[in-house]
Amino acid sequence: MNVKPDFSKNANAATTAPAFLSVWDMHAYYGESYIVQGINFNVHEGEILALLGRNGAGKTSTLRSIARTGSPMVTQGEIWLDHQPLHLMESHEAAAAGLGLVPEDRRIIAGLTVEENLQLAQIAPPIGWSIDRLYDLFPRLGERRKQEGITLSGGEQQMLAIARALARDIKVLLLDEPYEGLAPVIVDEIEKTLMHVKEQGMTTILVEQNAVRALELADRAVILDTGGIVFDGTAAEVLENADLRSEYLAI
Ligand SMILES: Nc1ncnc2c1ncn2[C@@H]1O[C@H](COP(=O)(O)OP(=O)(O)O)[C@@H](O)[C@H]1O
Ligand SMILES: [Mg+2]
Repeated sequence: MNVKPDFSKNANAATTAPAFLSVWDMHAYYGESYIVQGINFNVHEGEILALLGRNGAGKTSTLRSIARTGSPMVTQGEIWLDHQPLHLMESHEAAAAGLGLVPEDRRIIAGLTVEENLQLAQIAPPIGWSIDRLYDLFPRLGERRKQEGITLSGGEQQMLAIARALARDIKVLLLDEPYEGLAPVIVDEIEKTLMHVKEQGMTTILVEQNAVRALELADRAVILDTGGIVFDGTAAEVLENADLRSEYLAI
């Protein structure tokens, strides 16, 4: 390839179709390090968006910026979720506005059973999925409801972390590498539940190193490279574009 293709045109962000979650000109720093370098993207209601890119590309930083964690520090930009200005909110306010971040380390609370972990998520209304509905979604959690959450297998802990997000009344689910370290058969199981959750109308951003698995599930994809967006389009376009895959995803 002689000429580097320009994947940076963000056609999606330029449309006038109202987006459900909209990230506009977002910049963020860890101290002096400029990490999220002015990104724009939209997520439409009910879709799964795969947010991809090599290790260190800025995927986690982008999710943490949207969730208003304060680290990295967002210095510029707007983030709108269903007409609510997340960029004006603290992280607990963003959570109350419907943001459900499932961080990479899962944060299962030690000393609490599976059920207590879920109940804790429902302390403050409005409540999302009922605990029975969550056990229908993840039967393994129902079978282990009295077991201490941190004694679950990695895959079951990931299911608990996702269930805990859904136990609140969220509008968007942000998943940071949910498949990491899990056996393919467990990934299959989680994939099936994410598809079911989508069928119930949930909007999801899926960050994954396992790009092929993520693209199989996703409607659209955004690819990050050194804190900027290099592609925004359909998941099928990424799967069909060998140059794009090898340059930014190493697949
Ligand atoms: N807490 C931090 N302090 C300083 N730099 C960080 C911190 N976390 C991540 N970074 C840097 O920010 C960049 C993006 O990291 P990250 O968002 O974790 O990427 P990804 O999730 O795509 O692997 C990397 O260069 C990483 O070293
Ligand atoms: Mg990461």
